[in-house]
Amino acid sequence: MNGSNVIVKDVCKAFGDFSVLNNVSLDIKKGEFFSLLGPSGCGKTTLLRIIAGFETPDSGNVFMDKEEVLSLPPNHRKVNTVFQNYALFPHLTVFENVAFPLKIKKVPKDEIIERVNRYVKLVQLDDHKNKKPSQLSGGQKQRVAIARALINEPQVLLLDEPLSALDAKLRQHMLIELDEIHDKIGITFIYVTHDQQEALSVSDRIAVMNQGDVLQVGSPQEIYESPATNFVAQFIGETNLFNGIVCSVNKTGGSETEYMVELDIPELGRIKVTTVDEVHTGQKVSFTVRPEKISISTERRVTNREDINFFQGVVSEPVYSGFQSKFYVKLKDQNAGVSSVTLKVIKQHAVYYEDDNQIVWKDEVFLSWSANDGYIVEAGN
Ligand SMILES: Nc1ncnc2c1ncn2[C@@H]1O[C@H](COP(=O)(O)OP(=O)(O)O)[C@@H](O)[C@H]1O
Ligand SMILES: [Mg+2]
Repeated sequence: MNGSNVIVKDVCKAFGDFSVLNNVSLDIKKGEFFSLLGPSGCGKTTLLRIIAGFETPDSGNVFMDKEEVLSLPPNHRKVNTVFQNYALFPHLTVFENVAFPLKIKKVPKDEIIERVNRYVKLVQLDDHKNKKPSQLSGGQKQRVAIARALINEPQVLLLDEPLSALDAKLRQHMLIELDEIHDKIGITFIYVTHDQQEALSVSDRIAVMNQGDVLQVGSPQEIYESPATNFVAQFIGETNLFNGIVCSVNKTGGSETEYMVELDIPELGRIKVTTVDEVHTGQKVSFTVRPEKISISTERRVTNREDINFFQGVVSEPVYSGFQSKFYVKLKDQNAGVSSVTLKVIKQHAVYYEDDNQIVWKDEVFLSWSANDGYIVEAGN
């Protein structure tokens, strides 16, 4: 098995006057772990239901391995769905729940036993085959639902927020298991979630959606490192985002297509940032720098590198969370007073720094980041 290629082409869907999907197009590869990520209500479930065949689009098309599937009912598509609420039969055992789709198809008994045992083992429920759902934990119930969805050997598994009913620690654990199951059976997974951390940690590629639009499709790294729009930048992880105007553009020595840009940002002043996008003097752009890219220190670090952005500020709110600390730093204004402009800075505690424990509330700190660590997003005109 290596799964199907799923192509969604110009799909539109409205409920009454309310447009839920606006010209959505995706090309999901065979065997890919593909996530649809976006806030609640952005149209993820509707898109999944259209792929599964439970919903018909107003226009557009869906193909699986080049075959047009819109005219096929759900049970004739090579897909199966895992729902958030498990949808198990309470009166049946684990074995019977998983066997159910095969019984409907009147598969011979010996084959049912062989296949159910294989899939129950895959989801590590060998020891729980005879239990009823009420005797299982949330994570175990979800595994039964996964085994039952896989028993018909679909080419595409659709998962609609399958872990959202589990607590955080179990969610992390199940996510790793899902990834392992995906590696073992190698079919296409289309995974719906509103949780950016989940999507970043398991997906081969992610489509970020908002209000019925696909804003960006890319690897977790592409989505995180070079968000295509302000929404993507803010939705994925934490960031510092400002609007500004391009005041100079110069080619860098390093790469043919990279430019060193100087921005004028009302809250920050002049900022240096590199970009591969074509921008021109006078252009309005948004600028973002991730909190963990900003270095923070109580000591002024001296460098003669020209690509470093420097700021001075005062810690207004330190937030300790074990493996890292987050600081809200109010920048100094031109008259050396404290302004209302705040930068979020995250410092990991993986490495010991001398000044690690010394940064506290009201400390005067020095912030810096290199031009390479900031990004221009959503260049307007
Ligand atoms: N059957 C329906 N009738 C009317 N509105 C619907 C129906 N299904 C979904 N919607 C609306 O469409 C929008 C997108 O829903 P959904 O696809 O479930 O989003 P998501 O899964 O991203 O949370 C929501 O505003 C929802 O209320
Ligand atoms: Mg949903």
